[in-house]
Amino acid sequence: MEFKFYGHACFSVTLADGKVLLFDPFITGNPLAGSVDADAIRADYILVSHGHGDHTGDLMAIAKRTGALVISNAEITDWVKEEGYENVHPMNFGSRQFDFGMVHYVPATHSSSLPDGSYGGNPGGFIVETGEKTFYYTGDTSLTMEMQLVPYYARVDVAIMPVGGNFTMDYKQAVIASDFIKCNKVIGVHFDTFGYIVIDQKAAVQAFKEKNKELILPEIGQSILL
Ligand code: NI
Ligand code: MN
Repeated sequence: MEFKFYGHACFSVTLADGKVLLFDPFITGNPLAGSVDADAIRADYILVSHGHGDHTGDLMAIAKRTGALVISNAEITDWVKEEGYENVHPMNFGSRQFDFGMVHYVPATHSSSLPDGSYGGNPGGFIVETGEKTFYYTGDTSLTMEMQLVPYYARVDVAIMPVGGNFTMDYKQAVIASDFIKCNKVIGVHFDTFGYIVIDQKAAVQAFKEKNKELILPEIGQSILL
């Protein structure tokens, strides 16, 4: 299973069978992601955590080019259909078996509106049990007690969490979140893209190290074998 970072909170996970899950496509609007060619990104599924532009900026273009199945809350998939794209799977908070694995769409503590101002449903995160590894992408969220429920139904091997603060958890709260979900391997996202979320990367990595946990802060374009 390979994680690839496209900047901000956009990444893909490629499974052993070659299927590509793309999360929260936002490339062309990212001032740091100039090296990424959004037109070359592969996707068989696109999972969207919430409606904000820094998670949906390139959604329609990539969906239309790839034909990927868009999985998100029903408000977002309805919006995608209004934008002229039909291959969607609506969810709300709950679990569903897909051909690539089990998906739990779980609450995030945040907000969600679409780029045109329309209602984006409740913001969420995804726990994906692929049969290889289980990963949890929390989406944009503050630290929330909801996370304490996760170990009751999923054993998370790696978590992908925002660490930039201001709009989401900061890295210190992400350490606590990793305790809540009983996972010691975290990939940090949602940092450094804008002035509000610039972090001290060394301090962030150290904060995890002190708790015998690992924080990876990926470079844009970097691939990580999970
Ligand atoms: Ni957001
Ligand atoms: Mn965001």
